[in-house]
Amino acid sequence: WNTTSLSVVVVGASGDLAKKKIFPALFALYYEGLLPPDFSIFGFARSKMTDAEFRDMIAGSLTCRVSAKDKCIEATEKFLKRCFYSPGQYDDAKSFSELNQRMGEVERGSGKPRSNRMFFLSIPPNVFIAAAGGAADYCSTKTGWTRVIVEKPFGRDSASSAALGRGLAAHLKEEQIYRIDHYLGKELIENLTVLRFSNLVFEPLWSRQYIRNVQVIFSENFGTEGRGGYFDQYGIMRDVIQNHLVQILALFAMEQPVSLNAEDIRNEKVKVLRCMRPVKLEDTVLGQYRSRVHGGRTLPGYLDDKTVPEGSLTPTFAACAMFINNARWDGVPFLLKAGKALHTRRAEIRVQFRHVPGSLYKHKFGPDLDNSTNELVIRIQPKESIYLKINNKVPGLGLRLDTTKLDLQYGNAYNAKELPDAYERLLLDVVNGDKRLFIRNDELEAAWDLFTPVLHESESRRVTPELYPYGSRGPVGAHYLAAKYGVRWGDLA
Ligand code: BG6
Repeated sequence: WNTTSLSVVVVGASGDLAKKKIFPALFALYYEGLLPPDFSIFGFARSKMTDAEFRDMIAGSLTCRVSAKDKCIEATEKFLKRCFYSPGQYDDAKSFSELNQRMGEVERGSGKPRSNRMFFLSIPPNVFIAAAGGAADYCSTKTGWTRVIVEKPFGRDSASSAALGRGLAAHLKEEQIYRIDHYLGKELIENLTVLRFSNLVFEPLWSRQYIRNVQVIFSENFGTEGRGGYFDQYGIMRDVIQNHLVQILALFAMEQPVSLNAEDIRNEKVKVLRCMRPVKLEDTVLGQYRSRVHGGRTLPGYLDDKTVPEGSLTPTFAACAMFINNARWDGVPFLLKAGKALHTRRAEIRVQFRHVPGSLYKHKFGPDLDNSTNELVIRIQPKESIYLKINNKVPGLGLRLDTTKLDLQYGNAYNAKELPDAYERLLLDVVNGDKRLFIRNDELEAAWDLFTPVLHESESRRVTPELYPYGSRGPVGAHYLAAKYGVRWGDLA
């Protein structure tokens, strides 16, 4: 960095994601001294704004995690001085040429002979390719690297995703493209491979021999709330399951990679995804939340959201059973479940182990033997934690058994009141050119292949989602799906 400046361009700078996540993450990196000394940030969007207005717009969302107030104010002021704004249309060459010129002026001002540029495309899919083209064709730097971060939705199915891939490839090399899935930047997902591959008490147990089923669960206690226009075109399977949950599953179930480098890890992820059968409609439950009166207040149903088309059948909840056809996982159900407007906000992985063969204590657990098996829970959020349910003797004179927890709470163990946001880790990785946590093209293809048939079938048959009340535990159908495979959802036990 002694000779090179860094320019970060947020395309779609006035959008929600940019305000809530991208600018705060960039600021956090700056504040922790992780951005190169000569960096500048450019906002690019359709709205007309001056640099000063742009700085005002983002100032409100910048926070310092750990710091004294005055230090934080000083850092915010310094950071904002490095932020610039260039308005333009996403499909307009001239707008990108103007942006390029602006960047050139600022970069020359830094006195560094070389410059690297990264673009974050935080824009609707219909202008994706145009903006990628604008960035690559008119704003590539001649003296360093140009990298482009793209955020889902990467298409709606295998065919549209492939078309998007071809569109990007016409302007950019694969090595320049960073497909972000922000779940991969979350602390407990980063930890997943550490937990598994560095602990002898887990690694040998990670197979069909000891694991009965695996559950990946995502729930939110709020609805689409004004985001219905976007959400309705995609639905929960495309919004959360095909990407975030499948990425978790791939990391969970992959074989040990040859090394920790990006290609080795991604090779294993693709391999395990390609061992999976596409999801079947009969192994899927779709739901949609309806309104509910609670505490004298009416919680709106999905169809009450003004941005949702009338009579929409888009699912806001989905659960599905998946199987991995390889020697390690043959026959083990992987149950995925995601929903909006449920009773709680939580994301976790639950690993239910098999029964102890020939257990001495079987009779102590009565007919409900399932409650006595070990369960490992990896709580991704909120209140990050890892706990293992074990059977233990209740202290005292009699012989009474109880299921209790070996409990690692991040808040206590690491004094980590607030962990870095996923976007911080991922943006830093882009600066460093580390692709471990980004999705490779073939991975994306494999993930779409798993869901395209069920999406097409449910849409062409106009499957009606099962209604569930806002704030409930979701449709009853999810229990039947689990029961079909002899499973009980751990989060509802
Ligand atoms: C996004 C989805 O990718 O992830 C949203 O589009 C969802 O619908 C969000 O709310 C959840 O992310 P997080 O980090 O808040 O769990």
